[in-house]
Amino acid sequence: MRVFVTGGMGFIGSNFVEALLKKKHQVTIYDNLSSGSKNFINYKSKYKKLKFIHADLENFKKLKKSIKNHDIVFHFAANADVRYGFLFPRKDLEQNIICTHNVLEAMRANNIKKIVFSSTGSVYGEATKFPISENSEFPTQTSFYASSKLAAEAFITSYCEGYNFKSWIFRFVSILGPKYSHGHVFDFYKKLLHNRNILKVLGNGLQKKSYLHIDDCISAVLKSIKFFDENINIINIGHDEYINVKRSVKIITKELNLKPKIIFSSKESRGWIGDNSFIFLSNKKLKKTGWKPKHSIEESIIDTLDYLKFNKWILKRK
Ligand SMILES: NC(=O)c1ccc[n+]([C@@H]2O[C@H](COP(=O)([O-])OP(=O)(O)OC[C@H]3O[C@@H](n4cnc5c(N)ncnc54)[C@H](O)[C@@H]3O)[C@@H](O)[C@H]2O)c1
Repeated sequence: MRVFVTGGMGFIGSNFVEALLKKKHQVTIYDNLSSGSKNFINYKSKYKKLKFIHADLENFKKLKKSIKNHDIVFHFAANADVRYGFLFPRKDLEQNIICTHNVLEAMRANNIKKIVFSSTGSVYGEATKFPISENSEFPTQTSFYASSKLAAEAFITSYCEGYNFKSWIFRFVSILGPKYSHGHVFDFYKKLLHNRNILKVLGNGLQKKSYLHIDDCISAVLKSIKFFDENINIINIGHDEYINVKRSVKIITKELNLKPKIIFSSKESRGWIGDNSFIFLSNKKLKKTGWKPKHSIEESIIDTLDYLKFNKWILKRK
């Protein structure tokens, strides 16, 4: 297959790119390197079937030309930072909605009909029933990030209806593992390197989240694409476990052999405005493919720390 990967130099995208190349697919990465890095892929020497286009999805002319002659698009590029959405109110609109629309229009112009999209479990907002299934109701959206992902999902499904596209929309929990470059393990590790005696934690530490190792995420996506064959396929990707932030802190500090004083920023079980206090997705639909996660959440956190320990350059980026 000739696969076009937007955001292929990012944490999730670059892991997918390597997995696709190992399966002998031809891959084109389209990335503006705003949060991705060329260090994630040794693209010059190692892989002959890989092409990298350093460009922005906002550049529609370039995108339309670059996407030509591909069979499927994995659309991972986005503003993936949930926390700062309210500081930059147009960013999610531009990066996650308009850029997704550009991808869809560029596909339509080139008669490419298949799209894989990385959405998020945050679209369920403050859910009340757990684990959350794909057909749960959507209560109020709590972040611009989740609103923009939901809007992008809506555009994708409309292209399926209107132009006979086929989509696989994946709602991920938080992903961990090699090349991880943002999120709570990153933040805690960076803070502890700076000061090993004190760790400031956002919220009261009782926020409950599910996490998944990137390798399990990749196997879930690749199995689902083969297994689910509707025009619109919406699938949760999560873990059967969840943990709270206090437990995460324990795993991290134990692994680093540190005993810092933990300071919680508030009495609320949310880290910032719009954070969801509990994210735990049902994997029932995904399990129909025969998929099972291979890594526990604890193993995934430790694997992430291992990667960060040996790749401190990531911590130095702005
Ligand atoms: N990391 C997670 O836990 C998680 C969870 C749920 C969903 N997602 C989604 O998965 C996708 C990948 O997330 P990630 O964690 O790898 O993020 P990331 O920031 O590491 O990767 C995003 C990539 O997209 C590129 N990019 C951003 N805007 C672009 C633009 N306008 N034009 C071209 N390239 C652009 C960046 O340079 C980067 O390489 C995102 O869509 C994100 O919303 C991630």
